[in-house]
Amino acid sequence: MKLKIVKDSNQIMRKRSLPVELPLSKEDKDTLDMMLDYLIKSQDEEYAKKHHIKEGVGLAAIQIGLLKRMFVVYFPDQEGNITQYQLVNPQIIETSLKKCAIEAGEGCLSVDNEHEGLVHRAYKIKMKAFDALQNKEIEITAKGFPAIVLQHEYDHLNGMFYYDHIDKNNPNKKLLNEELL
Ligand code: NI
Repeated sequence: MKLKIVKDSNQIMRKRSLPVELPLSKEDKDTLDMMLDYLIKSQDEEYAKKHHIKEGVGLAAIQIGLLKRMFVVYFPDQEGNITQYQLVNPQIIETSLKKCAIEAGEGCLSVDNEHEGLVHRAYKIKMKAFDALQNKEIEITAKGFPAIVLQHEYDHLNGMFYYDHIDKNNPNKKLLNEELL
């Protein structure tokens, strides 16, 4: 089955997603598997080119039109180890005062237009969620890039986009306590 990505022009993207019932239904688990599969394939250059899809490191259920509080992430770290989760009902339970932003800005599978500017995020977060990959409740401590990806996906569950965090009057201004990645 091919997933169709909902774009930010669709107002459903601004809605708040609803909690998912646990234990997870087979249908929800299948959906998460499809979403993760989509991300993995999107990072295969040849496949992505052939199917005209953008490369992504995270995907929230709302991006395939489902108002459910769940998302998947998939990306390698600097050592090449893969970080992957299928998170359900995630909660951010701690955020650092220190900020960070990706110097080149962020992107999103649902956003086609360019939005230049620094997307200010917490440098470090603690997230609690049910992970359908490990089939258990987990707590993740993430900093830097992984923390940014988790916050970006979490925002989708609350109808937010990365560009909501860009200062329109001063898009490239670094904050005092901010590390650029
Ligand atoms: Ni996104």
